[in-house]
Amino acid sequence: MSLAIENVTVRFGGVTPLDDVSFTFEPGVCGIIGPNGAGKTTLFNVLSGFALPVAGSVTMAGEALLAIAPHRRATWGLRRTFQQEQVIRTLSVWDNARLGADHTGASTTEVQAALDYVGLTGLDRPGSRLTMLERRLVEVARCVIGAPRLVLLDEPAAGLDPAESAQLLELITGIPGRFGALVLLVDHDMDLVRAACGTVAVLDFGKRIAFGPTAEVLGSAAVRRAYLGVEE
Ligand SMILES: Nc1ncnc2c1ncn2[C@@H]1O[C@H](COP(=O)(O)OP(=O)(O)O)[C@@H](O)[C@H]1O
Ligand SMILES: [Mg+2]
Repeated sequence: MSLAIENVTVRFGGVTPLDDVSFTFEPGVCGIIGPNGAGKTTLFNVLSGFALPVAGSVTMAGEALLAIAPHRRATWGLRRTFQQEQVIRTLSVWDNARLGADHTGASTTEVQAALDYVGLTGLDRPGSRLTMLERRLVEVARCVIGAPRLVLLDEPAAGLDPAESAQLLELITGIPGRFGALVLLVDHDMDLVRAACGTVAVLDFGKRIAFGPTAEVLGSAAVRRAYLGVEE
């Protein structure tokens, strides 16, 4: 079930955060990288329904995703995390995870299976007493509850140390095989992207500047100039 994003354009006033962007993502874990402001989160917003494109289409498994009302996309199988982690401080791990089951029709057993997957079963603590890694794991759990088809992870490794990123990496790469979902991963941690993604898409100022096998894309001069150079 590939995901075809075709000629998507988003405009906010005089800004064009996405300019005629097309990518076809094949099943597995695919990366989206680019400097701050490149349009990565805007692309996730289009897929999840927070941003309405002025042009373009998105198709997955023969279905027009943009034709599905945003509030029905969870039932369809869309899951996402946000750059700013969204774990509620006053709720327990279980209740936080269960929020991911709202609007999906998922059962208690499916919430349990998701917590088992990320290794948080039995952790009886409120969100306020979780480490950053545990919070990120709660978010991954939410994303795999029920029958996810498309999982969007927006900078899930931000704030994690290398050992924690490695733990997250293992869970992210396991999602397609275990749950059958296609995963799009936005992250600035190039070690994570290199290890997790077979394919990488690169955005810069709202435009597609590269797309292809990860090693090839990360090695290309245009990408190094636009993105990796910024980091150096
Ligand atoms: N709701 C909005 N209204 C106006 N401009 C926005 C909005 N959301 C994002 N932008 C602009 O769109 C561009 C892309 O932002 P974003 O998608 O968040 O980039 P990234 O996630 O790659 O850092 C930026 O210039 C940002 O300021
Ligand atoms: Mg962003």
